[in-house]
Amino acid sequence: MKPQILLASGMLWLIQVISSPAWGALERQPYLQNVTDSQVVLRWRSDMPTDSVVHYGVQLENLNRTVSISGATTEHEVVVSGLNADTRYYYSVGSSAGTEAGGDAWHYFRTAPMTGSNRRLRIWAIGDSGTGRTGQLQVRNAYYNLDSMETDIVLALGDNAYDNGTDNEYTANFFGVYQDLFRHTPVWSAIGNHERNSGAYTTAFSHPTQGEGGGQPSGTELYYSFDYGNVHFVALDSFTDNLNSDAMYLWLEDDLSSTTQKWIIAYWHHPPYSRSSTHDSDSETGMKVLRERANPILERYGVDLQLSGHNHFYSRTYLINGHYGQSSSWNASTHAVDSGDGREDGDGVYDKQDQAKGAVYILAGSSGKQGYTIYSHPANFIEVGELGSMVIDIAGDRMDVRMLRENGSIDDYFTIVKGAANGVGNGGGGGDSGNPDDGDAGTGDNGAGSLTVCMLLATLSLLLLRTGTGLLNRQGT
Ligand SMILES: [Fe+2]
Repeated sequence: MKPQILLASGMLWLIQVISSPAWGALERQPYLQNVTDSQVVLRWRSDMPTDSVVHYGVQLENLNRTVSISGATTEHEVVVSGLNADTRYYYSVGSSAGTEAGGDAWHYFRTAPMTGSNRRLRIWAIGDSGTGRTGQLQVRNAYYNLDSMETDIVLALGDNAYDNGTDNEYTANFFGVYQDLFRHTPVWSAIGNHERNSGAYTTAFSHPTQGEGGGQPSGTELYYSFDYGNVHFVALDSFTDNLNSDAMYLWLEDDLSSTTQKWIIAYWHHPPYSRSSTHDSDSETGMKVLRERANPILERYGVDLQLSGHNHFYSRTYLINGHYGQSSSWNASTHAVDSGDGREDGDGVYDKQDQAKGAVYILAGSSGKQGYTIYSHPANFIEVGELGSMVIDIAGDRMDVRMLRENGSIDDYFTIVKGAANGVGNGGGGGDSGNPDDGDAGTGDNGAGSLTVCMLLATLSLLLLRTGTGLLNRQGT
């Protein structure tokens, strides 16, 4: 080989080394699945088949526990069990040949609080997110810059990877985009109509099928439930044949009749109260059937919040109950439990203290793109044709919900209270994500006082962004 060619080859090698990912050849960086109060499923994908090795521990400098699986695979799925509840563990992943990712301050998982615990929770919900477009990144970055509160749960409301939910689209437009968050925050998903490659979808997620995190076993990853703190989460399938089978609804009834959790949050892809030039809940199957068959069961057992995507804008209903027909049959006097705005500084919070009825249905389908002409649905208090995502804070008897725009502004917000909260939280300390080394379990109620701090931080973040000094500290998200 001529010296010039040798030199060129050496330069190329050097460039490749410099430009290689810092954590080696992983096609999908680590992400967390099916977190319960005693176990977590660690997932990652390597480019070559290897065995699977996870080191973990409560102290970053002492990952003194190990789980190994001997078979060679690229699709790594390691169950780490026997854990303490509501505890942060640091981890690394790789093979017997060495660590591929982790062993630093940003790779950790936190087990769920004990079921029924009133520890404050932060949930981030994204719908129709995986476009790979600038809008997706703007919505993501707005959330990353919102505040320093640690995210407990991400809910992906379907159509997570455009256009067809292929394996490559999931890698690029979903796991790739959110990898800095997913390495320490578990994500659960509902299947959407763009998840046309069912193999890629079921491969991507390790959803509960046997009631691993509480709830009744569903036997399928396409609909399932789990408990987290004082919330019972229920995911339904509005896309496949399940939506027209009795089995899903029989399971739903069985599941909800068994839970004693304070809050119930349901989610599926097709919104029950949403009309646009493209998707109309008066006529489109997935939207209509779930409204007619699932909503009565959910409301009978006191569902509080329902989340969906599909239409690419934002909307949410009043606190409603018993409306299962066409939009033309809406009657505010019988279907609206509270026809106010649900705001503490407006008409007043939605108060479920004295009665169990009433749920708010949210469409959050603009986390990756915005579109379609909105046809107003009378059950909705507000409809917003903008990019955004949902931020849900639960502190004991209080739930605060915000629609966070891609530019950092809050375009809608409301509060639901029940029990003794009476619309006023008691402040106090929650966990944080600002310092990953503090091991703060985030116990204690976090009511209106902390929400105020949260709002102030959000405002400060927005000001920093607008003055060009915003700090995208994705290491800490
Ligand atoms: Fe959709």
